[in-house]
Amino acid sequence: MPAWLKDAVFYEIYPQSFCDTNGDGIGDIEGIITKLDYVKSLGANALWLNPIYDSPFKDAGYDVRDYKKVAERYGTNDDLVRLFEEAHKKGIKVLLDLVPGHTSEEHEWFKKSCEYEPNDLWNRYIWTNGAFCGIGGHPYIGGEAERDGCYMLNFFKCQPALNYGVLNRTEPWQMPVDHPDCIATREAMKDIMRFWLDKGCDGFRVDMADSLVKEDDEVKSATGAIWQNIREMLDKDYPEAALVSEWSNPECALKYGFHADFYLDHHGNGLNVLFRDGETEGGDHSYFKKDGGDSPMRFLADYEHKYENSKKYGYISFITCNHDTPRCTKTMGIDELKVAYSFIFTMPGVPFLYYGDEIGMRYLENVKTKEGGFQRTGSRSPMQWDKSAKNYGFSEADSDKLYIPVDASSDAPAVSSAEADADSLIHTVRSIIALRHAKEDLQADADFQVVYAKEGERLFIYRRGSLVIAVNPGEKEEKAYKKDCADILSKAGEIKGNLIYGIGTADLTDDAVVLGPQSFAIFE
Ligand code: GLC
Ligand code: CA
Repeated sequence: MPAWLKDAVFYEIYPQSFCDTNGDGIGDIEGIITKLDYVKSLGANALWLNPIYDSPFKDAGYDVRDYKKVAERYGTNDDLVRLFEEAHKKGIKVLLDLVPGHTSEEHEWFKKSCEYEPNDLWNRYIWTNGAFCGIGGHPYIGGEAERDGCYMLNFFKCQPALNYGVLNRTEPWQMPVDHPDCIATREAMKDIMRFWLDKGCDGFRVDMADSLVKEDDEVKSATGAIWQNIREMLDKDYPEAALVSEWSNPECALKYGFHADFYLDHHGNGLNVLFRDGETEGGDHSYFKKDGGDSPMRFLADYEHKYENSKKYGYISFITCNHDTPRCTKTMGIDELKVAYSFIFTMPGVPFLYYGDEIGMRYLENVKTKEGGFQRTGSRSPMQWDKSAKNYGFSEADSDKLYIPVDASSDAPAVSSAEADADSLIHTVRSIIALRHAKEDLQADADFQVVYAKEGERLFIYRRGSLVIAVNPGEKEEKAYKKDCADILSKAGEIKGNLIYGIGTADLTDDAVVLGPQSFAIFE
């Protein structure tokens, strides 16, 4: 386990939309370099960049054409190396995005794989043995290549699935996971990882990490074996490199070698019911919505076993949002977000802040889809730096040349105005992250324990190490008697209750914890 993860706070940058330095309307690597001090000022000490590789951009870069080449619109490989160096000087690590499940249909491997005559890359993708032989249970394409077969897709039409083999084989064209050509796919991915690690990158966020072996068993053991093999390489040659999975099943992913696994917004799971539970019948019952009315019990029913069963292997990564998820501002106000983010940055594991969430950037409704974004496009709009500058300081380009239009609302937030407003969200983000760095008990490893959570009640109290944290997202004052609390709080008198962080009002009396509306408190 790389030791730096223990106190890591990540900032996710969607490179297209962060900062454009050459006026072409698209963010670039130089832009990220110029904003490193800003990233640092938030307290983030690590970055995750969405794919910056050469690509036809039919899925915003998740359709990789050349894994070893930075896309021209972002700069050059040398620029990226300079970003690694500049970031490291400031104590910031940089994770790239590894896309191991598929490539672009324009990748050289795929072109070779489409050829009429068999060649050494013929099995790099999953093909059937006839143009009229389709694939049950998976999307596929037929009739597009000279080769007499259909190929499997992993996501969009532009993303053919790489071949790591099939575990439970039922068709003659399916290849076993230990076939040399399937092993060669894994080795090719390792080669790409080494290429960037040798240039100074600090690890990878891994796209669709569970998607490698097809017809895998329920616990994805064959896909897991590939990650264990890759982890062995890291442990041996790059012990400081981090691997973070887009899997959202830490009980699997962390056992298979990932250091951290994202807690993603999947309908009905623990993260979804906290922030984005708008699809349930009868309104939005998200725990952090002030009028959501919910207790933390639905969250805990999902989270606690995930945490308990995975904590000895690695970390769960809470996210404020990501490039695939609607920003929380779609349904929540700034006061709700202050409480919600304070929670995120006081939980175990390795947290991720999505660019712009620190100023409460809006989810843009009705923006035209860009590069396969569709409804995700609304969470990918240009970063708003300066209220008074053209395009909020994101780019000098004319507004019709921007990658995605900027937020046109007159009260759109920006870094400049947020900095000047003592009550703005950015200050909450900075102070809770600063506190996390200052207190080991708030970092990745310190133990988490539920102290008070009850069906039908809004108050949630949990312990991190020697700290007691109390949350009330609701509109009314809430109270918990110490005698009803588990763990250290029940030992009345022993808690001195030094308030070290607070939003709203909080009181630790002799016999109870009392929290005012929309309040958050950390007692030492
Ligand atoms: C992941 C990415 C998403 C992409 C997809 C296909 O879910 O986060 O943006 O479209 O994989 O690569
Ligand atoms: Ca640019």
